[in-house]
Amino acid sequence: MSQRTLVLLKPDAVRRGLVGEIIGRIERKAGWAITALELRSLDRATLERHYAEHVGKAFYEPLVEFMSSGPSVALVVEGERVVEGMRALAGPTDPIAAAPGSIRGDFGTIVRENLVHASDSPESAEREIKLFFPGLI
Ligand code: TYD
Ligand code: MG
Repeated sequence: MSQRTLVLLKPDAVRRGLVGEIIGRIERKAGWAITALELRSLDRATLERHYAEHVGKAFYEPLVEFMSSGPSVALVVEGERVVEGMRALAGPTDPIAAAPGSIRGDFGTIVRENLVHASDSPESAEREIKLFFPGLI
């Protein structure tokens, strides 16, 4: 089933020069395609909507600070079961628990700075794609 998902390469990925490496992993996945891509600094209003489910949690404020600390790269990726597949490519939220071979497992250090975001369901993906790429159909 072809789907689409929203991926963010977070400020740590951009700062550490890992954009090419991570995009390469996405491109090497047969049958997936990048259909939108933009480097941009995320403002508080966008982050509040993006992370609406986490507003009020203890990690929310430091998360927003970190996500505002430099530009991110936002992408839309389309392909076969890409929502589940992109979460697997990223690895679990905590990089220490993430297996080698996953993006977070290979490059992650602490939970907050875990390099990538990938939508957690097809419904989240559609909501997030609308938020980041309102012009996209
Ligand atoms: P979450 O949606 O739970 O993880 P994921 O990105 O894997 O969907 O959390 C959003 C981000 O918030 C997560 O990528 C990193 C940060 N975060 C923390 O800083 N501390 C935490 O304890 C958790 C759960 C998340
Ligand atoms: Mg999440």
